[in-house]
Amino acid sequence: MARVKTIAFQGLQVLPIDVQVQIASGLPSFNIVGLPDKSIAESRERIRSALTSIGLGLPSERITVNLSPADLLKEGSHYDLPIVMGILSAMQILPIKHIESFILAGEIALDGSIAKVSGVLAIALHCAKNGLGLICPFGNGAEAAYVENLSVLAPHDLLSIINHFKGTFQLTPPTCPSTIWPSNLSENLSEIRGQALAKRALFLAACGHHHLLLCGPPGTGKSMLANRLPFLLPPLSKMEALVVTAIHSIFGQLKGRDFLFERPFRSPHHSCSQAALVGGGPKARPGEISLAHCGVLFLDELPEFSHHTLEALRQPLETGEISVSRANARAIYPAKFHLVAAMNPCPCGHLGNTRKQCHKAPLCGERYLKRLSGPLLDRFDIRVDVKPVEVEDLLRPVISSSPELSVERVIEVQRIQRKRQGVLNGELSLKQIEEHIRMHSSALSLLVSASERFGLSARSFQRIRKLARTIADVEESQDVERHHMAEALGLRTYEY
Ligand SMILES: Nc1ncnc2c1ncn2[C@@H]1O[C@H](COP(=O)(O)OP(=O)(O)O)[C@@H](O)[C@H]1O
Ligand SMILES: [Mg+2]
Repeated sequence: MARVKTIAFQGLQVLPIDVQVQIASGLPSFNIVGLPDKSIAESRERIRSALTSIGLGLPSERITVNLSPADLLKEGSHYDLPIVMGILSAMQILPIKHIESFILAGEIALDGSIAKVSGVLAIALHCAKNGLGLICPFGNGAEAAYVENLSVLAPHDLLSIINHFKGTFQLTPPTCPSTIWPSNLSENLSEIRGQALAKRALFLAACGHHHLLLCGPPGTGKSMLANRLPFLLPPLSKMEALVVTAIHSIFGQLKGRDFLFERPFRSPHHSCSQAALVGGGPKARPGEISLAHCGVLFLDELPEFSHHTLEALRQPLETGEISVSRANARAIYPAKFHLVAAMNPCPCGHLGNTRKQCHKAPLCGERYLKRLSGPLLDRFDIRVDVKPVEVEDLLRPVISSSPELSVERVIEVQRIQRKRQGVLNGELSLKQIEEHIRMHSSALSLLVSASERFGLSARSFQRIRKLARTIADVEESQDVERHHMAEALGLRTYEY
């Protein structure tokens, strides 16, 4: 019997799988057992053809392949390569001792070539952690090579991997093109004219990881502003980039790329289902919020999303992960994203515009806002009105973006927060708020009077403190002063 190692995915988790191949005398047959799904059952035909095309045939004996542990459902096409290598070892064409220290994953084509599969980066991370090597398709080689201290073989076809182990051919290890780590992610706020308040809000949101709601008539640049947020955030660290790429890779979202360096920006349409947004479906797949992990989730036309869909966001917003359970699948996915939402002030979008207002104003605006639940609205630390752009602003020549709203500034302000408390202000827990947010008495009295006057909820109360802390950090002030608090209170439209 020959044993070869491969893996199975359960959500983002990588589980080791043992492929056991036995060739015994008996009537010729070829069976795969151990809860394979349809795509694996079909791998028998691919393997038979591939072996024929390289001039080897399956032996006319009883071949049994077992995927162990047998009680775990196996899905995906990456089992072809471990199965065929196991058969070759059992046929004593390949010495088993060579492949014992590798994890294998790859899909075999009828002509013996090895086709790309998804999830290779996650497999490579698993190999590195367990001190194993990796044999993966040539097309995935660059992806695997991002993991350091890992021996990777990425053959084009079956013949080259057989010859490599026989010593008649030397596979060269794949290299990672990491020298092109992008430094000039250039999209900035300079193209957006006017909108000083909205830009400042976006900058503060980036500095302190505050969720942001933009409300304003159509065509005022809300989508433009949201699109710029990933470029205002510090570049991904290598570890974050690995996680982001692994998530996208497992779920086939790499779109032909080897590696994702930039923060994801996901903007699902408002007709999307709850399963598409937070994850779910029969296989408990991850949703947009997990694909937006470490990046930005932009919900345009927020009130048009279904109520249930939006309410499902509340838990991951607090915990940074989502647990998806279905009849026979359960998984926990990371979902730490920066939420930006945009909405029109009313269904037609022109509430407040004296030239375009319709006869339903102003009641329509209130009714429209009521589609959002209080608890959800509460989770937006910053809520600003985006006003129509003035014609003079549009005609003014583009000046290069101002240094006070730059990613460099964001990085500095984040460093101050991390040094003081380890996390960004938007992520502070109640205990940390008490510990780290020192308020000047004048700031406190302003907050208390606003709270009494407008009946702020306890959550609002804390969120305003966090936002005021960020504003103080931008000024590098030790304490939260009265004017910081005043600005924070002003950035909470719809509170009152
Ligand atoms: N503040 C602005 N500065 C420059 N161009 C703008 C501005 N606002 C809107 N535009 C122009 O209008 C288009 C639509 O803007 P968009 O961001 O989609 O508006 P909204 O999302 O508010 O409806 C943009 O592509 C841009 O050409
Ligand atoms: Mg828009």
